[in-house]
Parts: sequence; structure tokens; C-alpha cells
Amino acid sequence: MDIDTEIIQNIKGYLEEDEGKALHEYALAVSLTGPCLEIGSYCGKSAVYLGAACRETGNVLFCIDHHRGSEEQQPGETYFDPAVFDYHTFCMDTFPCFRRTVATADLENTVVPLVCRSELAARAWKTPLGLVFIDGGHSYPAVKTDYDVWHKHILPGGYLLIHDIFQDPAKGGQAPYDVYRQAVSSGNFKEEPMVGTLGILRKKGDK
Ligand SMILES: C[S@@+](CC[C@H](N)C(=O)[O-])C[C@H]1O[C@@H](n2cnc3c(N)ncnc32)[C@H](O)[C@@H]1O
Repeated sequence: MDIDTEIIQNIKGYLEEDEGKALHEYALAVSLTGPCLEIGSYCGKSAVYLGAACRETGNVLFCIDHHRGSEEQQPGETYFDPAVFDYHTFCMDTFPCFRRTVATADLENTVVPLVCRSELAARAWKTPLGLVFIDGGHSYPAVKTDYDVWHKHILPGGYLLIHDIFQDPAKGGQAPYDVYRQAVSSGNFKEEPMVGTLGILRKKGDK
């Protein structure tokens, strides 16, 4: 894997190494299927794993994030980080951090940042995709919306990856898991073994 481990260690974020390596592996696997897209980039950790694979294969990675943080990243909440809070606008702003990561990891010719809400980008989206990674807002309406607006763009043979799948409610929020189950129940996806909390679904149908 062509990723500098020192770069990875210095990026803020919640992704575990085995999950990152799985993202990289699946992004390599879809190189001939279509572009990759992630919802929820934060400071760029997952983008580095996905992006390195896209760079290696000449593919493109779209990274959607409004960079204003999810509910749990706001001031006073569990995952608030004052280092990525803009005291001038009094808002979270992870975009400078994200850009630094993309530049440091040499991904400026691979990554297309879309600084907006995922639903807004989806309203005009027409490009079929090889892989969609959902790691944006973690409330039920947020994950469900991301699933509803993006899953239909995944090509047969492509992948839908969803982060923070906790089968045991004692271990974490259930919204990503509920949406993951809905995707399986739709009959359009085949489950692959999970890696950490990363749910992996392959879109059925002929390539
Ligand atoms: C858990 S973090 C993403 C972590 C990232 N994948 C990583 O590897 O570090 C969630 C991100 O989703 C973004 N987000 C939440 N709701 C969103 C929405 N509706 N549209 C776009 N981005 C959203 C937040 O701004 C936040 O940066």
C-alpha cells in the first residue's frame, strides 16, 4: 500500500487502521468500475486511504463534506475538537485541515472536494460510481438520507461501505446499522465480511 504511515498517524480522525486498509483495498478493486465517492471527510483520514488507491489506478475520489462538523462534533459535545473550530465565524471548519492532508499526501490530482451538504451534491449528481463510503452524520435521518440519495448511483459490481456499524447497541449508535440492514433487505446488495466497524456491501447485477 503506497501510503506514508507517518502522514496517516498525524491526521485527526476516528478510522482504525484495518478499516482504512479495507477502504484502500476496495477502492483498488473498483478501479475499472467507476469513480469513488465519500460522504464525511473531516480532516481527510479515510480520503488518504481511498485516494491513494485511486491515484495508483488513475481513478478519481469525490469527497463530500460541509466541514461544519456532525452533531457530536459541535461545542460541548463528545467529539468537539477546539483545534478545528473557527473562532471568527464561530463554526466548526475542518476544510483547512482537510486541504492540508490532501496536499501532504500528494492527492491534489486525485481528490475532488465538494464542500456542501451531501443532499445538495446528490440533487445534481449523474455520474455512476464504483464505490460509495458513508461516514457523514450519524443520526438516523442523516444516514438514511445519505443512503437514499447515493446508493442508486452505485454500478453493479461496485461497493457500498458504511462506517460505525455496531450490532451491539451497548457499543455504539444504531443508525448506521439500521440503514445497513435496510440495504441488505432491499435485495440489491450482497454482504461481505465486516472489517472492524466497516460494513461492506457489493451491488448485485451484471457488470
Ligand atoms: C465522522 S466524521 C468523518 C470522518 C472521516 N471519514 C475520517 O476518516 O476521519 C463526519 C463528517 O461528516 C460531515 N457531515 C455530517 N453531515 C453531513 C452532510 N449532511 N453532508 C456533508 N457532510 C456531512 C461532518 O462535517 C464531519 O466532518
